[in-house]
Amino acid sequence: MHKQLAISLDTPFKQEVYEGLTSYPKFLSSKYIYDEAGDKLFQNIMDMPEYYLTNTEYDILEQNKTDLAQIFGCGKKPFHLIEMGAGDGKKTKILLRHFTEQNLEFIFRPIDISQNALNQLQNNLKTEIPQLRTEPLQGTYFETLQKLNLSTDERKIILFLGSNIGNLCHEEAVEFLSQIQEYMQPEDLLFIGFDQKKNPETILNAYNDETGITAKFNKNLLVRINKELDANFNVDEFKHWEVYDPETGTAKSYLVAKSPQEVFLQALDLHVSFKAWETIHTEISQKYDDNTVQWLAEQSNLTIVDEFCDQKKYYKNYLLKKS
Ligand code: AVJ
Repeated sequence: MHKQLAISLDTPFKQEVYEGLTSYPKFLSSKYIYDEAGDKLFQNIMDMPEYYLTNTEYDILEQNKTDLAQIFGCGKKPFHLIEMGAGDGKKTKILLRHFTEQNLEFIFRPIDISQNALNQLQNNLKTEIPQLRTEPLQGTYFETLQKLNLSTDERKIILFLGSNIGNLCHEEAVEFLSQIQEYMQPEDLLFIGFDQKKNPETILNAYNDETGITAKFNKNLLVRINKELDANFNVDEFKHWEVYDPETGTAKSYLVAKSPQEVFLQALDLHVSFKAWETIHTEISQKYDDNTVQWLAEQSNLTIVDEFCDQKKYYKNYLLKKS
């Protein structure tokens, strides 16, 4: 019996940190980067010139907003515009503004795990697009999808932007897309962003900026563990390291111990030791090509009905329906 069983692993955060730091090789989930500090650091990342994803998707939405208004508002039927992981809604506002100007009849339903993010978004939208009907929903993707399904017979257009799907390995992505597919009716649509394979150097630069913002973002995992689990990681003794495999399209982030060290997590009553240059794997940011997206869609019982791309072919948004 593990002595640690006496300590209660009473939250998913505790369970996952415990599992990741007692495994070999060690790992932590990138979803825990996003506390208040992590949200801010991600905003800073989105403002970096190296992080091409944000501006590219912004341009795709801007250039295709008229077509999207046609497709989403087809037959003047009212619809629910559901955004998974809405964040600050910067890109979505392009559509919200345009659809409102075009008098499309729709309700915007942003979903986020963070109630704080949702409140800010709602306040911001109230002043920026006063005519817009917004009904936020707090929770994980699946809790909320289920609720949405029960609460409406109206057509659902689901947005999943930012290549957020890239944090999932293919198996998890299929699981995720399949679950969305199950909540979709035949006339519903999924509009989803996939960052594309490109010059490996461009990709590495996006995740390894010289100013160290991404390093700070990655290390926020340790900062958060220090704060919430009474731990004593010496964050400066870890190095942010990024690799990209151009064959698989997987970018991987690590935190590498620069020296041997002992860490104690009081809330888990857990001692963790690191050898010099031992790694913690923290994040994947998957890059895609058409074959892979086609395969993911097939595996999830979805069909690609349209796609939208920027000039440089850096990024694509695909429109999917139930097969
Ligand atoms: C929010 C998951 C899309 O993987 O590109 C940015 C997060 N990590 N820089 C990504 C992230 C490092 C981002 N996603």
